[in-house]
Amino acid sequence: MELKLNLIAAACENGGIGINGRLPWSLKSEMNFFTNMTTKTKNINKKNVVLMGRRTWECIPKKYRPLENRINIVLSSQSLKLGDEAFVCKSIPSALEFISKSDLKDQVENVWVIGGSNVYKAAMESPNFYRLYLTEVKKHFDCDTYFPKIPDDFVAVEDLNVPQGIQEEKGINFEYKIYEKKN
Ligand SMILES: NC(=O)c1ccc[n+]([C@@H]2O[C@H](COP(=O)([O-])OP(=O)(O)OC[C@H]3O[C@@H](n4cnc5c(N)ncnc54)[C@H](OP(=O)(O)O)[C@@H]3O)[C@@H](O)[C@H]2O)c1
Repeated sequence: MELKLNLIAAACENGGIGINGRLPWSLKSEMNFFTNMTTKTKNINKKNVVLMGRRTWECIPKKYRPLENRINIVLSSQSLKLGDEAFVCKSIPSALEFISKSDLKDQVENVWVIGGSNVYKAAMESPNFYRLYLTEVKKHFDCDTYFPKIPDDFVAVEDLNVPQGIQEEKGINFEYKIYEKKN
C-alpha cells in the first residue's frame, strides 16, 4: 500500500495561515470541516494520521491535544518525547516509513498533513503528494506565518463531498478549494 499525502490548510487573502502561534481568525464551521475531513474514514476500524510540525503541535490548546480519534505524528529534528500523545518523526519520508513498517500499517486509512509552513512545502514536493484542500479566507489578516507557493503544475479539481461556492461566517467569506498535481 502506497501512502498518499492529503494536505488541509486555511489561508487568507494575503496568504497567511497563522499569527503569534494561533490562527488569525475564528471560524467555527471551517474548524468543523477540518475536524470532519481529518477524522472520517470509510472503514470504521481504521483511523487517519494527522501529521504536523512541532510548532503546530504546540499551538493546539492542551485540552484538544492529541487531536482526538486520529493518530498524531509530530515532525521535529529534536528527540522530543511526547509519550502516548503522539509519535515523533524527523521528516515526512521517515514518518511514511514509520507508518508502513509499524503496527500502524493496517490501522491507517489516510494521512493528513495539517501544517505548518515548511511541512506543507515538503508535502507538496513529496512524490507521495495527492491532494491539497485549501480554504481560501477572503479577507486580509495580519499574519506571521504563510502558506508556501502552490507549484505551477497544480490544478483545481472538484470533490462533491465538499461544500461548493462561497461560504460565510461572522461576515467573513471563504471557499473550499481542492488541488491535485497535473499528470
Ligand atoms: N491556517 C492553517 O491551516 C494552519 C495550519 C497549521 C498551523 N497554522 C499556524 O501556523 C503556525 C505554526 O506553523 P509554523 O509554520 O510556524 O511551524 P510548524 O511547521 O508547525 O513547525 C515548525 C517545526 O516543525 C519541524 N519541522 C518542520 N518541517 C519539518 C520537516 N520537513 N521535517 C522535520 N521537521 C520539520 C521543526 O521542528 P524542530 O524545530 O523541533 O526541529 C520546525 O521548527 C501557528 O500560528 C499555527 O496556528 C495554521
